Amino acid sequence: MPEPGDGEVLIKTLYMSLDAANRAWMKGPSYRDAIVDGDVMPTFALGRVVESKDASVPIGSVVEAEGLWSDYFLARAGNLRIVPDVPPLSHHMSILGIAGKTAYFGLLNVGRPKAGETIVVSAAAGSVGNLVGQIGKLKGCRVVGIAGGAEKCSWLVEELGFDAAIDYKSGNLFKDLKAACAGGIDVYFDNVGGQTLETVLFQMNLYGRIVCCGAISQYDTKNPIGPQNLPGLVVVKRLRMEGFIAMDFPEHEARAETELRTWVKEEKLKVIEDIVDGLENAPRALIGLLSGENRGKRMVCVAME
Ligand SMILES: NC(=O)c1ccc[n+]([C@@H]2O[C@H](COP(=O)([O-])OP(=O)(O)OC[C@H]3O[C@@H](n4cnc5c(N)ncnc54)[C@H](OP(=O)(O)O)[C@@H]3O)[C@@H](O)[C@H]2O)c1
Repeated sequence: MPEPGDGEVLIKTLYMSLDAANRAWMKGPSYRDAIVDGDVMPTFALGRVVESKDASVPIGSVVEAEGLWSDYFLARAGNLRIVPDVPPLSHHMSILGIAGKTAYFGLLNVGRPKAGETIVVSAAAGSVGNLVGQIGKLKGCRVVGIAGGAEKCSWLVEELGFDAAIDYKSGNLFKDLKAACAGGIDVYFDNVGGQTLETVLFQMNLYGRIVCCGAISQYDTKNPIGPQNLPGLVVVKRLRMEGFIAMDFPEHEARAETELRTWVKEEKLKVIEDIVDGLENAPRALIGLLSGENRGKRMVCVAME
Protein backbone atom coordinates (compact mmCIF):
# COMPACT_ATOMS: atom_id res chain seq x y z
CA MET A 1 0.00 0.00 0.00
CA PRO A 2 1.55 3.35 -1.02
CA GLU A 3 1.94 5.97 1.74
CA PRO A 4 0.97 9.59 0.97
CA GLY A 5 3.64 12.24 1.57
CA ASP A 6 2.98 15.93 2.30
CA GLY A 7 0.57 17.38 -0.27
CA GLU A 8 -0.51 13.92 -1.43
CA VAL A 9 -3.62 11.79 -0.98
CA LEU A 10 -4.23 8.05 -1.15
CA ILE A 11 -7.14 7.18 -3.43
CA LYS A 12 -9.16 3.98 -3.58
CA THR A 13 -9.96 3.35 -7.25
CA LEU A 14 -13.66 2.98 -8.03
CA TYR A 15 -13.61 3.21 -11.85
CA MET A 16 -10.80 3.26 -14.40
CA SER A 17 -11.28 4.43 -17.95
CA LEU A 18 -10.29 2.08 -20.76
CA ASP A 19 -9.15 3.95 -23.82
CA ALA A 20 -7.72 3.37 -27.25
CA ALA A 21 -5.04 5.77 -26.01
CA ASN A 22 -3.74 3.07 -23.61
CA ARG A 23 -2.61 1.21 -26.73
CA ALA A 24 -1.31 4.34 -28.46
CA TRP A 25 0.84 5.23 -25.41
CA MET A 26 2.65 1.89 -25.77
CA LYS A 27 3.77 2.81 -29.28
CA GLY A 28 5.98 5.74 -28.31
CA PRO A 29 6.03 9.24 -26.85
CA SER A 30 3.09 11.46 -27.79
CA TYR A 31 1.53 14.21 -25.69
CA ARG A 32 2.92 12.11 -22.82
CA ASP A 33 5.87 9.77 -22.28
CA ALA A 34 5.66 6.32 -23.81
CA ILE A 35 4.74 3.38 -21.61
CA VAL A 36 7.47 0.78 -21.54
CA ASP A 37 7.77 -2.79 -20.27
CA GLY A 38 7.53 -2.88 -16.51
CA ASP A 39 5.47 0.31 -16.13
CA VAL A 40 2.07 0.12 -14.47
CA MET A 41 -0.58 1.22 -16.98
CA PRO A 42 -1.72 4.80 -16.33
CA THR A 43 -5.41 5.59 -16.59
CA PHE A 44 -7.95 8.30 -16.01
CA ALA A 45 -9.53 7.17 -12.75
CA LEU A 46 -12.33 8.02 -10.35
CA GLY A 47 -11.87 7.17 -6.72
CA ARG A 48 -12.49 7.98 -3.08
CA VAL A 49 -9.85 9.59 -0.87
CA VAL A 50 -8.96 7.27 2.02
CA GLU A 51 -5.94 9.15 3.43
CA SER A 52 -5.06 12.80 2.99
CA LYS A 53 -1.95 14.85 3.68
CA ASP A 54 -3.46 17.98 2.17
CA ALA A 55 -6.11 20.04 3.93
CA SER A 56 -7.81 20.99 0.66
CA VAL A 57 -8.82 17.36 -0.05
CA PRO A 58 -10.78 15.83 2.84
CA ILE A 59 -10.95 12.08 3.41
CA GLY A 60 -14.09 10.72 1.72
CA SER A 61 -13.95 13.12 -1.27
CA VAL A 62 -14.70 11.64 -4.67
CA VAL A 63 -11.93 12.71 -7.03
CA GLU A 64 -10.85 12.25 -10.61
CA ALA A 65 -7.15 12.05 -11.36
CA GLU A 66 -4.57 10.27 -13.40
CA GLY A 67 -4.32 6.92 -11.65
CA LEU A 68 -2.91 3.50 -12.36
CA TRP A 69 -4.33 0.08 -13.09
CA SER A 70 -4.36 -0.63 -9.36
CA ASP A 71 -6.73 -0.77 -6.39
CA TYR A 72 -5.12 2.28 -4.74
CA PHE A 73 -2.92 5.07 -6.03
CA LEU A 74 -1.32 8.32 -4.86
CA ALA A 75 -1.97 11.73 -6.34
CA ARG A 76 -0.80 15.22 -5.53
CA ALA A 77 -3.67 17.40 -4.34
CA GLY A 78 -2.90 19.89 -7.11
CA ASN A 79 -3.27 17.20 -9.78
CA LEU A 80 -6.77 16.03 -8.98
CA ARG A 81 -10.28 17.40 -9.10
CA ILE A 82 -12.96 16.89 -6.45
CA VAL A 83 -16.24 16.01 -8.18
CA PRO A 84 -19.80 15.95 -6.82
CA ASP A 85 -20.51 12.75 -4.89
CA VAL A 86 -23.78 12.23 -6.75
CA PRO A 87 -24.76 8.91 -8.33
CA PRO A 88 -24.23 7.51 -10.82
CA LEU A 89 -20.51 8.12 -10.29
CA SER A 90 -19.78 6.31 -13.57
CA HIS A 91 -21.03 9.42 -15.41
CA HIS A 92 -17.75 11.12 -14.44
CA MET A 93 -16.04 8.52 -16.64
CA SER A 94 -18.43 8.85 -19.58
CA ILE A 95 -20.60 11.83 -20.31
CA LEU A 96 -18.92 14.20 -17.80
CA GLY A 97 -15.46 12.74 -18.35
CA ILE A 98 -13.03 12.69 -21.25
CA ALA A 99 -15.47 11.03 -23.67
CA GLY A 100 -18.14 13.69 -23.21
CA LYS A 101 -15.68 16.57 -23.38
CA THR A 102 -13.87 15.16 -26.40
CA ALA A 103 -17.13 14.82 -28.30
CA TYR A 104 -18.41 18.22 -27.16
CA PHE A 105 -15.27 20.29 -27.80
CA GLY A 106 -14.20 18.37 -30.89
CA LEU A 107 -17.54 18.78 -32.59
CA LEU A 108 -18.61 22.22 -31.39
CA ASN A 109 -15.30 24.10 -30.93
CA VAL A 110 -13.29 22.46 -33.73
CA GLY A 111 -15.86 21.15 -36.24
CA ARG A 112 -18.29 24.04 -35.71
CA PRO A 113 -21.25 22.49 -37.56
CA LYS A 114 -24.20 24.58 -38.67
CA ALA A 115 -27.79 23.32 -38.61
CA GLY A 116 -28.60 21.47 -41.81
CA GLU A 117 -25.01 20.38 -42.46
CA THR A 118 -23.95 16.75 -42.81
CA ILE A 119 -21.63 15.29 -40.19
CA VAL A 120 -19.87 11.95 -40.60
CA VAL A 121 -18.26 10.31 -37.56
CA SER A 122 -16.14 7.16 -37.47
CA ALA A 123 -15.90 4.67 -34.57
CA ALA A 124 -19.47 5.93 -34.21
CA ALA A 125 -20.62 3.33 -31.69
CA GLY A 126 -17.60 3.97 -29.45
CA SER A 127 -17.42 6.22 -26.47
CA VAL A 128 -16.69 9.50 -28.26
CA GLY A 129 -18.41 8.67 -31.55
CA ASN A 130 -21.87 7.93 -30.19
CA LEU A 131 -21.90 11.28 -28.39
CA VAL A 132 -20.65 13.18 -31.44
CA GLY A 133 -23.60 11.78 -33.38
CA GLN A 134 -26.12 12.57 -30.67
CA ILE A 135 -24.81 16.11 -30.17
CA GLY A 136 -24.80 16.63 -33.94
CA LYS A 137 -28.51 15.73 -34.03
CA LEU A 138 -29.20 18.13 -31.15
CA LYS A 139 -27.61 20.87 -33.25
CA GLY A 140 -29.94 20.17 -36.18
CA CYS A 141 -27.46 18.37 -38.41
CA ARG A 142 -27.78 15.25 -40.51
CA VAL A 143 -25.55 12.60 -38.91
CA VAL A 144 -24.01 9.56 -40.56
CA GLY A 145 -21.99 7.07 -38.50
CA ILE A 146 -19.30 4.64 -39.64
CA ALA A 147 -18.99 1.52 -37.47
CA GLY A 148 -18.05 -2.15 -37.64
CA GLY A 149 -20.89 -4.60 -38.29
CA ALA A 150 -24.55 -4.46 -39.31
CA GLU A 151 -25.78 -4.84 -35.75
CA LYS A 152 -23.90 -1.80 -34.46
CA CYS A 153 -25.10 0.17 -37.47
CA SER A 154 -28.79 -0.56 -36.88
CA TRP A 155 -28.33 0.23 -33.19
CA LEU A 156 -26.95 3.67 -34.10
CA VAL A 157 -29.98 4.46 -36.24
CA GLU A 158 -32.69 2.83 -34.16
CA GLU A 159 -31.49 3.60 -30.64
CA LEU A 160 -29.43 6.75 -31.00
CA GLY A 161 -31.24 8.54 -33.83
CA PHE A 162 -28.42 8.65 -36.40
CA ASP A 163 -29.79 9.35 -39.89
CA ALA A 164 -27.73 6.53 -41.39
CA ALA A 165 -24.86 4.24 -40.44
CA ILE A 166 -22.34 2.46 -42.64
CA ASP A 167 -20.57 -0.79 -41.91
CA TYR A 168 -16.96 -0.13 -42.94
CA LYS A 169 -16.23 -3.87 -42.69
CA SER A 170 -18.57 -4.65 -45.60
CA GLY A 171 -15.93 -3.35 -48.02
CA ASN A 172 -18.12 -0.75 -49.82
CA LEU A 173 -17.31 2.33 -47.77
CA PHE A 174 -16.93 4.71 -50.73
CA LYS A 175 -20.20 3.72 -52.39
CA ASP A 176 -22.18 3.44 -49.16
CA LEU A 177 -20.96 6.84 -48.04
CA LYS A 178 -21.90 8.35 -51.39
CA ALA A 179 -25.40 6.92 -51.04
CA ALA A 180 -25.80 8.12 -47.43
CA CYS A 181 -24.34 11.59 -48.07
CA ALA A 182 -25.78 12.58 -51.44
CA GLY A 183 -25.08 16.27 -50.74
CA GLY A 184 -21.47 15.63 -49.63
CA ILE A 185 -19.91 15.91 -46.16
CA ASP A 186 -19.44 19.17 -44.27
CA VAL A 187 -17.83 17.92 -41.06
CA TYR A 188 -15.89 14.69 -40.66
CA PHE A 189 -15.11 13.74 -37.04
CA ASP A 190 -12.18 11.38 -37.51
CA ASN A 191 -11.57 8.80 -34.80
CA VAL A 192 -9.82 6.22 -36.96
CA GLY A 193 -7.42 7.78 -39.52
CA GLY A 194 -5.97 5.50 -42.24
CA GLN A 195 -8.02 4.24 -45.16
CA THR A 196 -11.33 5.56 -43.83
CA LEU A 197 -9.94 9.10 -43.62
CA GLU A 198 -8.70 8.83 -47.20
CA THR A 199 -12.11 7.66 -48.42
CA VAL A 200 -14.05 10.37 -46.60
CA LEU A 201 -11.73 13.13 -47.85
CA PHE A 202 -12.87 12.48 -51.45
CA GLN A 203 -16.46 13.26 -50.47
CA MET A 204 -15.90 16.42 -48.42
CA ASN A 205 -17.71 19.58 -49.52
CA LEU A 206 -15.93 22.86 -50.19
CA TYR A 207 -14.86 24.51 -46.93
CA GLY A 208 -15.50 21.27 -45.02
CA ARG A 209 -13.89 20.66 -41.66
CA ILE A 210 -12.06 17.52 -40.56
CA VAL A 211 -11.82 17.12 -36.80
CA CYS A 212 -8.72 15.01 -36.13
CA CYS A 213 -9.56 13.30 -32.85
CA GLY A 214 -7.62 10.04 -33.11
CA ALA A 215 -6.45 7.27 -35.40
CA ILE A 216 -7.50 4.04 -33.75
CA SER A 217 -7.02 2.02 -36.95
CA GLN A 218 -3.29 2.75 -36.66
CA TYR A 219 -2.59 2.05 -32.97
CA ASP A 220 -2.33 -1.71 -33.14
CA THR A 221 -0.45 -2.25 -36.40
CA LYS A 222 3.20 -2.50 -37.38
CA ASN A 223 2.45 -1.01 -40.81
CA PRO A 224 0.69 2.31 -40.30
CA ILE A 225 -0.89 3.88 -43.37
CA GLY A 226 -2.12 7.40 -43.99
CA PRO A 227 -4.24 9.08 -46.65
CA GLN A 228 -2.56 9.41 -50.08
CA ASN A 229 -4.75 12.35 -51.11
CA LEU A 230 -3.14 14.95 -48.82
CA PRO A 231 -2.55 17.82 -49.12
CA GLY A 232 -4.14 17.85 -52.60
CA LEU A 233 -7.77 17.63 -51.53
CA VAL A 234 -7.28 20.03 -48.63
CA VAL A 235 -6.07 22.65 -51.10
CA VAL A 236 -8.64 22.11 -53.82
CA LYS A 237 -11.61 21.88 -51.48
CA ARG A 238 -10.32 24.57 -49.05
CA LEU A 239 -10.68 22.14 -46.17
CA ARG A 240 -9.73 22.86 -42.57
CA MET A 241 -8.14 19.87 -40.87
CA GLU A 242 -7.51 20.43 -37.17
CA GLY A 243 -6.36 18.25 -34.32
CA PHE A 244 -7.20 18.82 -30.67
CA ILE A 245 -6.92 17.26 -27.23
CA ALA A 246 -9.92 17.18 -24.88
CA MET A 247 -8.05 19.28 -22.28
CA ASP A 248 -7.45 22.18 -24.72
CA PHE A 249 -10.50 24.18 -23.63
CA PRO A 250 -10.22 24.76 -19.85
CA GLU A 251 -12.07 28.08 -20.12
CA HIS A 252 -15.11 26.27 -21.58
CA GLU A 253 -15.16 23.23 -19.23
CA ALA A 254 -17.87 24.58 -16.94
CA ARG A 255 -20.16 25.40 -19.87
CA ALA A 256 -19.60 21.96 -21.41
CA GLU A 257 -20.39 20.16 -18.15
CA THR A 258 -23.54 22.19 -17.54
CA GLU A 259 -24.80 21.66 -21.06
CA LEU A 260 -24.02 17.93 -21.13
CA ARG A 261 -25.65 17.44 -17.73
CA THR A 262 -28.75 19.33 -18.85
CA TRP A 263 -29.12 17.32 -22.06
CA VAL A 264 -28.95 14.11 -20.04
CA LYS A 265 -31.46 15.36 -17.48
CA GLU A 266 -33.85 16.41 -20.23
CA GLU A 267 -33.37 12.98 -21.85
CA LYS A 268 -32.04 14.54 -25.04
CA LEU A 269 -28.78 12.60 -24.76
CA LYS A 270 -28.45 8.91 -23.94
CA VAL A 271 -25.48 7.85 -21.82
CA ILE A 272 -24.12 4.56 -23.10
CA GLU A 273 -21.76 2.83 -20.67
CA ASP A 274 -20.06 -0.53 -20.97
CA ILE A 275 -18.85 -1.45 -17.49
CA VAL A 276 -16.48 -4.39 -17.00
CA ASP A 277 -16.20 -5.71 -13.45
CA GLY A 278 -12.87 -6.34 -11.74
CA LEU A 279 -9.34 -4.99 -12.12
CA GLU A 280 -8.15 -8.43 -13.23
CA ASN A 281 -10.31 -8.12 -16.37
CA ALA A 282 -8.74 -4.84 -17.53
CA PRO A 283 -6.16 -6.29 -19.99
CA ARG A 284 -8.74 -8.47 -21.73
CA ALA A 285 -11.20 -5.58 -21.82
CA LEU A 286 -8.61 -3.32 -23.50
CA ILE A 287 -7.90 -5.94 -26.15
CA GLY A 288 -11.67 -6.30 -26.67
CA LEU A 289 -12.07 -2.55 -27.03
CA LEU A 290 -9.51 -2.50 -29.84
CA SER A 291 -11.42 -5.24 -31.63
CA GLY A 292 -14.73 -3.40 -31.38
CA GLU A 293 -16.42 -5.28 -28.51
CA ASN A 294 -17.70 -2.13 -26.83
CA ARG A 295 -20.68 0.12 -27.33
CA GLY A 296 -20.30 3.48 -25.66
CA LYS A 297 -17.83 4.20 -22.88
CA ARG A 298 -15.93 1.13 -21.70
CA MET A 299 -14.60 1.35 -18.14
CA VAL A 300 -13.60 -1.02 -15.37
CA CYS A 301 -15.42 -1.02 -12.04
CA VAL A 302 -12.57 -1.74 -9.63
CA ALA A 303 -14.53 -1.43 -6.39
CA MET A 304 -18.28 -1.33 -5.78
CA GLU A 305 -19.55 0.93 -3.01
N1 LIG B 1 -8.19 13.97 -28.94
C1 LIG B 1 -8.57 13.58 -27.73
O1 LIG B 1 -8.48 14.32 -26.74
C2 LIG B 1 -9.14 12.21 -27.57
C3 LIG B 1 -9.78 11.83 -26.38
C4 LIG B 1 -10.37 10.56 -26.31
C5 LIG B 1 -10.25 9.69 -27.40
N2 LIG B 1 -9.57 10.09 -28.51
C6 LIG B 1 -9.47 9.23 -29.69
O2 LIG B 1 -10.77 9.10 -30.21
C7 LIG B 1 -10.89 7.86 -30.88
C8 LIG B 1 -12.12 7.15 -30.34
O3 LIG B 1 -11.92 6.89 -28.96
P1 LIG B 1 -13.06 6.24 -28.10
O4 LIG B 1 -12.62 6.34 -26.68
O5 LIG B 1 -14.38 6.76 -28.49
O6 LIG B 1 -13.02 4.80 -28.65
P2 LIG B 1 -13.63 3.55 -28.01
O7 LIG B 1 -14.90 3.70 -27.33
O8 LIG B 1 -12.48 3.10 -27.24
O9 LIG B 1 -13.96 2.61 -29.23
C9 LIG B 1 -13.07 2.09 -30.00
C10 LIG B 1 -13.85 1.63 -31.23
O10 LIG B 1 -13.05 1.89 -32.36
C11 LIG B 1 -13.35 0.96 -33.36
N3 LIG B 1 -12.15 0.43 -33.99
C12 LIG B 1 -11.21 -0.35 -33.45
N4 LIG B 1 -10.26 -0.66 -34.36
C13 LIG B 1 -10.64 -0.04 -35.49
C14 LIG B 1 -10.08 0.02 -36.79
N5 LIG B 1 -8.96 -0.63 -37.10
N6 LIG B 1 -10.71 0.76 -37.71
C15 LIG B 1 -11.85 1.40 -37.42
N7 LIG B 1 -12.44 1.37 -36.21
C16 LIG B 1 -11.83 0.66 -35.27
C17 LIG B 1 -14.12 -0.18 -32.69
O11 LIG B 1 -15.46 -0.14 -33.15
P3 LIG B 1 -15.92 -0.80 -34.54
O12 LIG B 1 -16.68 -2.03 -34.15
O13 LIG B 1 -16.76 0.26 -35.12
O14 LIG B 1 -14.70 -1.14 -35.33
C18 LIG B 1 -14.07 0.15 -31.21
O15 LIG B 1 -15.25 -0.19 -30.53
C19 LIG B 1 -9.59 7.12 -30.64
O16 LIG B 1 -8.78 7.28 -31.77
C20 LIG B 1 -8.98 7.82 -29.44
O17 LIG B 1 -7.60 7.72 -29.42
C21 LIG B 1 -9.03 11.32 -28.61
